Amino acid sequence: MIVLGLYGSPRKGGNTDQLLDRALEASASEGAQVKKIYARRVKVAGCLECGGCDETGVCVQKDDMVEIYPVLEEAQAVILTAPVFFYSPPAQVKAIIDRSQACWAKRLLSKSKDQLKTYDSGIGYLIATGATKGKKLFDCTKLVARYFFDALDMDYGGELLVTGVEKKSDISKIPEAFEAALEMGRYAAQGKPWKSLLL
Ligand SMILES: Cc1cc2nc3c(=O)[nH]c(=O)nc-3n(C[C@H](O)[C@H](O)[C@H](O)COP(=O)(O)O)c2cc1C
Repeated sequence: MIVLGLYGSPRKGGNTDQLLDRALEASASEGAQVKKIYARRVKVAGCLECGGCDETGVCVQKDDMVEIYPVLEEAQAVILTAPVFFYSPPAQVKAIIDRSQACWAKRLLSKSKDQLKTYDSGIGYLIATGATKGKKLFDCTKLVARYFFDALDMDYGGELLVTGVEKKSDISKIPEAFEAALEMGRYAAQGKPWKSLLL
């Protein structure tokens, strides 16, 4: 089992980084092979909407996504983290998500209409944090994550959403969040859906 952690925050060691570290430690201790991609470290341009991938399933742009596509493809579980930035994932990870349009195109090209009704490439989970506590805080992020996993041919496996954390160290005041991340990581290693938890 390969569990991929896609670190979406530009802030090193921040709230979502800490939660994902914990989740992946748990995945590793369950025997999974853990891989990590830090969106802040890679150079990924936005989708050009050129339609090239519609024909081939392959993106025409040759940047760091060339190495990222195979990792997305081989992972059987993906844990995406996304601090809320203006109600959306940060631009760095959104670029990777937008470029997964090529995965979506590949899925359309390789599956029949009936096969498209099922997800056969694993399971994806979301960890998101935000500073405020509004009812709609995670609405957009959750949809983005769900359809990212859809493009990857993955089921949506659940989400850990933590409100009221702003400073890098704020998450350390919420031990339940770490316990939840640990459990999510264990479930990911077992390929099992987790749950939706809002803290
Ligand atoms: C550019 C920017 C935009 C943000 N927008 C929001 C927002 O719309 N709503 C909110 O509650 N928090 C917002 N935040 C706060 C972050 O979501 C919050 O601090 C989060 O816990 C950071 O996670 P990290 O430490 O993993 O980066 C924003 C922060 C930044 C830097």
